[in-house]
Amino acid sequence: MIPLAAPTLGDAELDQIATVFERGQLTRGPEVNAFETEFATFCDTNHAIATANGTTALHTAFHALGLGESDRIATTPFSFIASANAIRWCGATPTFVDIRADTYNIDCEAFEQRLRDGEQIDAVLAVHAFGLPCEMDYLRELSDEHDFLIIEDAAQAHSAQYNGEPVGSLGDAACFSFFASKNMTTGEGGMVVTDDSAVAERARSFIEHGKTEDGYDGLGHNFCMSDVTAAIGRAQLEKLPGYTDARRQNAQQLTSQLEGIVETPVEPANRRHVYHIYTIQTEQRDSLRTHLTEHGVATGVYYETPIHRQPAYRDHDVQLPTADRLSNRVLALPVHPHLAADELDQITTSVHEYVKSRRRDAV
Ligand SMILES: Cc1ncc(COP(=O)(O)O)c(C=O)c1O
Repeated sequence: MIPLAAPTLGDAELDQIATVFERGQLTRGPEVNAFETEFATFCDTNHAIATANGTTALHTAFHALGLGESDRIATTPFSFIASANAIRWCGATPTFVDIRADTYNIDCEAFEQRLRDGEQIDAVLAVHAFGLPCEMDYLRELSDEHDFLIIEDAAQAHSAQYNGEPVGSLGDAACFSFFASKNMTTGEGGMVVTDDSAVAERARSFIEHGKTEDGYDGLGHNFCMSDVTAAIGRAQLEKLPGYTDARRQNAQQLTSQLEGIVETPVEPANRRHVYHIYTIQTEQRDSLRTHLTEHGVATGVYYETPIHRQPAYRDHDVQLPTADRLSNRVLALPVHPHLAADELDQITTSVHEYVKSRRRDAV
């Protein structure tokens, strides 16, 4: 079976971990410090704060930006539930805005309409869905006019760009995940990045139980990353450019073979898509999925149940027709960097065979 995701850990990660073992410091230490410095440079931001995972990165960023009870944070329902849960953990209320059918990102026109209708928003969590950056200029214009913060959820978008700028540098703060399936991984891990020194300081304190120079001031958590995790992250960060190029090449090949047969992902001119997930759309999603499984191609559905339809969010009374419609049409195909040429052929040939067989059945 061709897997949907295939994290690769090898000698570089082992060598890096060996230095941690030799040093004998497993908890937050020099590896975390070095990983933070390297990640901040990679994102072109002044600060990076390593956390236990992407969810705690989000929770930390909201807290550090002063978001909490009585605040409303707009976001997309077409994301992993962590995006919305982190909003609730900081005491704020998520408010869901519908998505665009072509980019899967927050529909800025729908968002603007809601703001013009008087909805009070304190921040937007801009999730760069599947590795494609949101329309950041549009969000920035809205935030200037309506005075709200912008936090990027870049959990799926390491190395993506908007107008040539790296994601992570496009809002007031941004959060990344290094979960096993992500474009770079540490198994579990996360990062907050920001240019704002005060936000960075509050984030650093929050992940260590409120630690400050004067003692423990305020409530915090233990959300720290360990040096073993950071060691893996440093090795993966070095490999990320190669992984990203391979993902983009694989995506180009899939699109060139599948365009016109199913709906393929778009990449607007000012954006660099990093294809964390390669999503196609078709009305026959479920039967195509069965066919691909039978032909040795693993697939995924992101997101079968958008967040506003999850039991924990059923009291969120919103109409999000595009998210609902797409949840029945989307199918993720393997695009990971280790796909061989014959595997890419197998994926596209299997989709073609399915489409031909349906045409035959229709005659
Ligand atoms: C968009 C998005 N936000 C947040 C998260 C949470 O990250 P983590 O699983 O590392 O807690 C994920 C990852 O799974 C994600 O895809």
